[in-house]
Amino acid sequence: MAFLGIDVGTGGTRAVLVDEQGKVIASGVSEHAPFRSPHPGWAEQDPEDWWRAAQEAVRTALSTSGLAGHAVAAVGLTGQMHGAVLLDQEGRVLRPSLIWCDQRTGPQCDWLHQQIGRQRLIELTCNPALPNFTLTKLLWVRDHEPEVYRKIAHVLCPKDYVRYRLTGTYAIDVQEASGTLLLDVTHRRWSEEVARASGVETSWLPQLFESPEVCAHISEEAATRTGLLAGTPVVAGAGDQGAGAVGMGILQPGSVSATIGTSGVVFAATAAPTKDPEGRLHTFCHAVPGRWHVMGVTQAAGLSLRWLRDIIAPGASYDALTAEAEKTQPGSDGLLWAPYLLGERTPHLDSHATALFYGITATHTRGHLVRAVLEGVAYSLKDTLTLFAELGIPVKGIRLGGGGARGQLWRSIQASTYGLPCDVLEAEEGAAFGAALLAGTGAGAWQDTDAACAAAIRVAEQIAPDPEAAKIYADGYEVYRRLYPAIRSIRGEN
Ligand code: XUL
Repeated sequence: MAFLGIDVGTGGTRAVLVDEQGKVIASGVSEHAPFRSPHPGWAEQDPEDWWRAAQEAVRTALSTSGLAGHAVAAVGLTGQMHGAVLLDQEGRVLRPSLIWCDQRTGPQCDWLHQQIGRQRLIELTCNPALPNFTLTKLLWVRDHEPEVYRKIAHVLCPKDYVRYRLTGTYAIDVQEASGTLLLDVTHRRWSEEVARASGVETSWLPQLFESPEVCAHISEEAATRTGLLAGTPVVAGAGDQGAGAVGMGILQPGSVSATIGTSGVVFAATAAPTKDPEGRLHTFCHAVPGRWHVMGVTQAAGLSLRWLRDIIAPGASYDALTAEAEKTQPGSDGLLWAPYLLGERTPHLDSHATALFYGITATHTRGHLVRAVLEGVAYSLKDTLTLFAELGIPVKGIRLGGGGARGQLWRSIQASTYGLPCDVLEAEEGAAFGAALLAGTGAGAWQDTDAACAAAIRVAEQIAPDPEAAKIYADGYEVYRRLYPAIRSIRGEN
């Protein structure tokens, strides 16, 4: 028996088959067309492309494994969060999806804060309005494309659109729904008050489920297209951060992950919804029923390194670049990187923030630039840990994930910057793996998500902070904290 996790990411869709011991049997990947940005700050993708990629990824995973469709006992979905997929009455896509990193909806955020009140919105949804969140994207369409808005009959997030194509069912899980700004996160139900105040019909919203719950079944048509068996149960799944946390075993209060992908996320499981009164952290339902989580997001984490590579050493491997960085000293001889290439979420909530190298001298080399980027991203993630400390959110241990956990240098920079031992997992397979564990839980292979993680997740190595480097990074962090206020003041704001 196997369980299939499908991750509808930004760059591509990945399908992972996992067995009853939680071991990965096979996987398949299919790239997406890059997102379009017709204006600065805009980001759009075509839902049809996700569906094409999902079919391809599933077929590849099945054929690589040699398993027939009937060997797959359940499917779980995950993916990039927050995107708005707008459908008409017949389930047809009305326009390209505004995705998670689209930054155009500042005016709609202001409107929501005026209409509902920022504090009231935080009380109702646990979060303030941010351009990333789905509701603000819906309101942009209301304001700029009223002819499209009038035809809306269903609103889905990206992975839930793929679910719709797989099953014909409109459904969402509470973790993903938390990132729409339409969920009463505390009570795990849609917020009638927010929907009413923003003019959104509750009939547009999909039915809500807990992540491991079976909510739909593979249709005949999708079975033909993917090789899965018609009638195979599909669990609700979770957004990439929720499913990624399951895949890393971040389920109990005190356990924390720091994941560096395109964006960077520091994620903590909590026993109750822990709100930041200033709204600097996201407070969402966890993919584990009855639990919540907080997370801080660095918009351009891995993206900072890719951006630098593409302009100073196009085509170079990350390994070659980090080897150059390894020849320089911790602290990059005073060079600092503020990673605000796509504005910033945590802790600044400023979609207009811009990035900065500070302290360049004639002695700095390419290796210094690379090390400064790795260190600057780690400082940015530490900002979230600083907020956790402020809000009394316990941190008993940190697990590293994503590209930032793969190379020795970024691992050790992180451990010394956070000042805590950091665990690296044996097989860190990302959100698709977590979605497969949720599918296995829904199918009854494990009693609950805790049991699934206990069976499937093992720590490979612990990285201890280096005391000398930790001191340098503690000082570096203090200087780093002064960069953002300087950037604001140069912009003419205090
Ligand atoms: C989470 C977030 C990203 C996206 C893209 O809040 O915006 O993790 O889900 O991966």
